[in-house]
Amino acid sequence: MFPDKQKFIVFSLLCIGFLSYSGFLYSHLPVSNPVFSVSQSTGKSLWQKHNCTACHQIYGLGGYLGPDLTNEYSLRGPTLIHIFLQTGNTTMPNYHLSESEIQELTDYLKCVDQTGKSDPRKFTINANGTINQ
Ligand code: HEC
Repeated sequence: MFPDKQKFIVFSLLCIGFLSYSGFLYSHLPVSNPVFSVSQSTGKSLWQKHNCTACHQIYGLGGYLGPDLTNEYSLRGPTLIHIFLQTGNTTMPNYHLSESEIQELTDYLKCVDQTGKSDPRKFTINANGTINQ
C-alpha cells in the first residue's frame, strides 16, 4: 500500500519524535534526587530494618494501615515524629528506639520530604505529561 521509502520516513520521524520527547522529559524531571548524609542513610537503613513500609507509604507506595509519610516532616514537623517514635500508640508499634535512632529516622523523613510533594489530590497536568503541585 505505501512504498518502502515512505514507511522508512514515517518510522524515522516516529523514532526522532520518541527520542526527543524522552530526552526532554528526562532532562526536566520534577523530582530531585536525594543526597543522603550519614545520619539520613542510617535512618533509611532503620526504615528498612523495622519495615516501616509495611504500614506506611512513601509516594503512595507501601502498606495502608498508617498514613503516607512522604511529607510528614513539613506537614506535622519533627517534634510529632519524635513523639510518635518514642511512644507509639495503640496502632503504631513502639520500637523502643534510642534517641540517636529517632533522630536518624527523622533526618531520613526530612530528606524524603525535600524530594517533592506526594499528595495526588492537588496537582495540574501539563501538556508535556509532567505535573505541577
Ligand atoms: C504495624 C503498622 C506500623 C508500622 C510497622 C509502623 N507504623 Fe507508624 N503508624 C502506624 C499507624 C496506624 C499510625 C497512625 C496512628 C494514629 O494516628 O493514631 C502511625 C503513625 C506514624 C507517625 C505519625 C504520623 C501522623 O501524622 O499521625 C509516624 C511519624 C510514624 N508512624 C513513623 C513510623 C516509622 C518511622 C516506622 C518504622 C520504624 C513506623 N511508623 C512503623 C502504623 C505503623
